[in-house]
Amino acid sequence: MTTKDLYDQYLITSMVAGFQPVEAVEARGCTVTGADGREYLDCFSGIAVCNAGHGHPKVLAAARRQMEKLVHCCTYVYYNPTAAECAKRLAEIAPGRLRKTFFGNSGAEAIEGALRLAKQHVKRKEIVCLTMSFHGRTVGTLSVTGNRARKKGAGPYLSGVAFAPAPYCYRCPFKQTYPGCGCACAEQMDYVLKYQTAGDVAAFVAEPVMGEGGILVPPPEYFRIAVEIVRQDGGLFVCDEVQSGFGRTGKMFAIEHYGVDPDIMATAKGIADGFPLGAFTATPEIADAFTPGDHLSTFGGSPISCAAAIANIEVMRDEKLPENAAARGEQILRRLRAFQEGCPLVGDVRGKGLMIGIELVSDAAKTPAAAEAKAVQRQCLDGGVLVGLGGCLANVIRIQPPLVINAAEADRACDVLEDAIRSACAR
Ligand SMILES: Cc1ncc(COP(=O)(O)O)c(C=O)c1O
Repeated sequence: MTTKDLYDQYLITSMVAGFQPVEAVEARGCTVTGADGREYLDCFSGIAVCNAGHGHPKVLAAARRQMEKLVHCCTYVYYNPTAAECAKRLAEIAPGRLRKTFFGNSGAEAIEGALRLAKQHVKRKEIVCLTMSFHGRTVGTLSVTGNRARKKGAGPYLSGVAFAPAPYCYRCPFKQTYPGCGCACAEQMDYVLKYQTAGDVAAFVAEPVMGEGGILVPPPEYFRIAVEIVRQDGGLFVCDEVQSGFGRTGKMFAIEHYGVDPDIMATAKGIADGFPLGAFTATPEIADAFTPGDHLSTFGGSPISCAAAIANIEVMRDEKLPENAAARGEQILRRLRAFQEGCPLVGDVRGKGLMIGIELVSDAAKTPAAAEAKAVQRQCLDGGVLVGLGGCLANVIRIQPPLVINAAEADRACDVLEDAIRSACAR
C-alpha cells in the first residue's frame, strides 16, 4: 500500500489547494528528502514552523536528553522545571512587559486562552478582529477569523465579534493609496468600536503580518493608531505571533517592527523548531486574572517540547537567525521586485524578512490568478523547490523558508520561482 492509499483509506483529511504530493521522509536544514530520494529546497518550513532549520542538532540533542529523563509531567499538577525555565526564556525575549506564560500545544489553543484571559482581566466580553485574518480552527478561533473558506461548515460562531478592515494596501478596502489614505483602515477602528460593538470590547486580536490572508504587511503606523483607539476604549491588544514570531520577519517578534507592546502575545509554530508547543504570554497584572483551575491543558508545556524551545531560542540568538532572515528577505524581495517590473502576472511583492508573498493577477483590474498560482507552485515542485500557496483569493505564492537559508539557496529559490512564473505567463 502506498502512503497515498493509506491517506485515502485511513486519514481524515481536507487538503487545501496548496497541498504538495511529496512523501517527506527526512529533512535537515532547508532540505526535505522525498521517499524517492529526491531532495527539495524547502521554502515553506511546514508552514513557518522549522525556523531554526529541520532537525537542528542542538534542538534535537536537548529534546533527546529531556526524553531520557522525563517525557510527561502535567505542568498544572506538578512543578515542571523545564516549562518554568522555558517561560523564563520567553519572558527574556518577549516585547515590552510580557512576563508570564501559559503553555498549550498549538496556535489555536494559544489564541483561545489569550482571549479568555483578556476577557477575565478586562471583565468584558466582546472581541474585535480583522477581515482576512486567520487564528486557528476551533470554533472560538474561527469566530475571530475573517476568511470564509476557512470558516465554511463550522458555524454558528460566537457572538460579540466585530471585524475591522484588513490593512491590505494592494486591495485597499477604501480604494485609496498609501500614504495618501492617512492609514484609513487603522482609523476605521473607532467606527467599528462605536457602531459594531456594544461597548464591551475586551480585546483587539491581530497578526502583525497576516500570514494565511496572503502575507499582508500593515503600514508602519497601523498598530500605533489602531491599538491606541482600542486602548482608549478600554480594550487590550492580543498579538497573534503564531506565524510571524521567532525571527521569521527579521526581528524576534513581528510586532517589534511597529513600536507597540502587546498586552498578551500568542505563539506556537516556530517556538520549538517542530516540537508541538503553543503559548500565550501576558503582563504580570493581566496574567494574574486567572484564578486556580481557570485554565488547564493536560499536554501543554510538554517537557520535551519545552526543552526543544529553550534550545531553539539559544540557537536563534547564537546563530543570529532573525538577522539572517532580514538579510535573506531583503535579497529575495529585491530580486522579486526587479522581476515584477517585466512581468504583469506579478501584481504585488510584499513581505518582511522571510515572510514573503507574491500576489498573482491576470490583468490590470487585479483579477486574482489562482490557477496560475497553483501552476507556479507545481512547477517549483518539479524544479525542486517547495513554496506555499495562500491568500484569501488563493493567488499568493508564499516564501517562508527556514531562517538558516543561505544566499546561494535563496538565489536558487528565486531562479526556480522566476522560471515558473515566466512559464505561467506564457500559458
Ligand atoms: C496567525 C495564526 N494564528 C493561529 C494559527 C493556528 O495555529 P495551529 O494550527 O497551531 O492551531 C495559525 C496557523 O496557521 C496562524 O497562522
